[in-house]
Amino acid sequence: MDLAPVLASAGVVAVATAADVPGENNYGSAVHDDPIFAAGLVEYAGAPLFAVAAATYGAARAAARRAKVDYEPLPAILDIRAALAANTTVLPTQRLVRGRPHEVLEQAPHRLKGTVRVGGQDHFYLEGQIAIALPQEDGGMLVHSSTQHPSEVQQIVAHALARRANQVTVQCRRMGGGFGGKETQPALIAAAAAVMAHKTGRPIKLRLDRDTDMVMTGKRHDFLADYDVGFDSSGRILALTVMLASRCGYSADLSGPVNDRAMMHLDNAYFLENVEIISHRCKTHTVSNTAFRGFGGPQGMVVIEQIVDSIARVLGMDPLVVRRRNFYGTHDRNVTHYGQVVEDNLVHLLVDRLAESAGYRERRKRIAEWNAAQPIVRRGIALTPVKFGISFTATMFNQAGALVHVYTDGTVLLNHGGTEMGQGLFTKVAQVVATEFGLPLAAIRVSATDTSKVPNTSATAASASSDLNGKAAQAAAQAIRGRLTQFVCEKFSVGEADVSFRDGLVFAGPQKLTFAELVGEAYRARVSLSSTGFYRTPKIEYDKNTLRGRPFFYFAYGAAVSEVAVDTLTGETQLLRVDILHDAGRSLNPAIDLGQVEGGFLQGVGWLTSEELWWNEQGELRTHAPSTYKIPTARDWPSHWSVELLEGRPNSEETIYRSKAVGEPPLMLAISTLMAIRDAIASCGSDRALPDLTAPATPEAVLRCLENVDAGTIVYRVAAVDAEADA
Ligand code: MTE
Ligand code: MOS
Repeated sequence: MDLAPVLASAGVVAVATAADVPGENNYGSAVHDDPIFAAGLVEYAGAPLFAVAAATYGAARAAARRAKVDYEPLPAILDIRAALAANTTVLPTQRLVRGRPHEVLEQAPHRLKGTVRVGGQDHFYLEGQIAIALPQEDGGMLVHSSTQHPSEVQQIVAHALARRANQVTVQCRRMGGGFGGKETQPALIAAAAAVMAHKTGRPIKLRLDRDTDMVMTGKRHDFLADYDVGFDSSGRILALTVMLASRCGYSADLSGPVNDRAMMHLDNAYFLENVEIISHRCKTHTVSNTAFRGFGGPQGMVVIEQIVDSIARVLGMDPLVVRRRNFYGTHDRNVTHYGQVVEDNLVHLLVDRLAESAGYRERRKRIAEWNAAQPIVRRGIALTPVKFGISFTATMFNQAGALVHVYTDGTVLLNHGGTEMGQGLFTKVAQVVATEFGLPLAAIRVSATDTSKVPNTSATAASASSDLNGKAAQAAAQAIRGRLTQFVCEKFSVGEADVSFRDGLVFAGPQKLTFAELVGEAYRARVSLSSTGFYRTPKIEYDKNTLRGRPFFYFAYGAAVSEVAVDTLTGETQLLRVDILHDAGRSLNPAIDLGQVEGGFLQGVGWLTSEELWWNEQGELRTHAPSTYKIPTARDWPSHWSVELLEGRPNSEETIYRSKAVGEPPLMLAISTLMAIRDAIASCGSDRALPDLTAPATPEAVLRCLENVDAGTIVYRVAAVDAEADA
């Protein structure tokens, strides 16, 4: 690397390379295999080599381009099949087996083999990756980071600078979206900024522009699954074997737990009595893939949904009938392939109610009539369920802390370990504290997430943050309320049962005073008005060597019906209508939760229909801007829709106010859209055609699939259209 021209460029203050990293040149979390600045070996096109600091952003970008870098090309493995052929993985292959899948397959009355392919996804958070590093006294470093995981950024910055954790403070006020893309990736940005701040002794702001962000940072894993399924003539699955492989990129990052979750969600809502899943974590010379809403779960669920859909097509049955036939039971057939009992199975209830309210059966009939009469624009419909496990599969991460201060004017400052990225966590946790003190929400202020206030936090991820931080904040608030209650009891000579906190007031038998008055008096009586709170999720245990146990505290459920139109001449698809019924337990905040359901669903629709990551033969990502990478917009929301939360079913587990996590599960409702497109395409083939539809179902993918759906019928269809045109 010749960086002299960079340094000589106008406005440039400094250049930093691997040699400028005083500590460990690595930001890998689980495995230390992610260099901050590549040193000698570049394993993907887009790997960071050096950083430039300049007086302005424009000057830094212009200077960076002047670097002279000589590469010696090495052989590269660029996709999953190539990695499988070369047998290269970032982590050892895992095998999860129950029953006697191979034997039962041999005896099954029906058997089907096939392949499922599902693409990756860029997070496309509206705010890109960004960090500011500010050198402090005594070797301290303060980092403002757009991160879901401030504690990890703190550790990695400390390691990179060869400092101690207590010298580094990381704050995150909020993110302009994270979606899993700011779980591990921000550590790279923060560490590079901190290294430069250390080198120059000046504050450094590092912001990636959109193209660089898309090229340089990890995405959702694309997956490939070769399956072999045996079933009976009622559509019931008897045995299943799946070779599941994902593109992990050049390093491990979170690929271990992402692929574990894919294996553990390959059942979705279905009882798989005899099953074998072999999961390969393929190493490719592309960007290292990472967390993305659903964390591997969605990919596993697409696999089983396509298998169930195919079984129905082979048997000439309604896919919903086959789905129902395979659902986990409520009393029997209710143990997952990893050994967890499905205790409060809401799938039957949700699916029955939704099928009814959405008019699934009548609409299916009408669509069949439409398709019989319409040669060009075909329609399709599908109902798919969601069952998603809530908790980090790594049991230790299921803990949280909070810090609550009550000031003498009766206002409350709340800090907890979770981060806000638009999912509404800060509002929900503030609601909990307001409820515990009987105060209006306006009395609670949530401070930025800060590693110097609540230490050793887990990432805000796995949808568990309101469960975890809500409970931790509740514990802190209850500790203070307990002391205040004690004080009131002594002051008014009443029993604890006579004291209550409501509407900004505190009632003690017949007497009452404002919360602020009470707090003022308690302060003067030297009562502590500050407390930490801590929570650890009960009941969970999981052995990651045997892949068995109870990894999840509970399951969240949902179901969706999508209806689509497919233009068979252009391959374009349109989502015409969606009906969603989603389980949020006793919702902490229905407005926020409905927002999560709608946003999650549409983000899933983008993943499965329009967002395509495309690498050229040199392994360069060519879809790295909105000009070529198509996220859905508000205009893609269907004109007919209904989104509802399931009422009257509080969480059967004791979560915060019996609510359920809602951040990720709704994304998987979008599988109904993919299956509806498949349904529309199937109508173009002969009876029992099996469309080989890959995701994302872009117009190109739809056309490719239409060509193969059933060659004879396609010729017939085109001939029919021509005849019409002639007439
Ligand atoms: N919603 C918005 N608006 N922005 C986001 O970045 N991230 C999702 C989900 N909903 C996200 C979002 C992801 S990936 C997760 S894991 C959860 O929110 C995290 O927050 P929670 O644990 O509070 O649900
Ligand atoms: Mo979410 S993928 O667990 O950040």
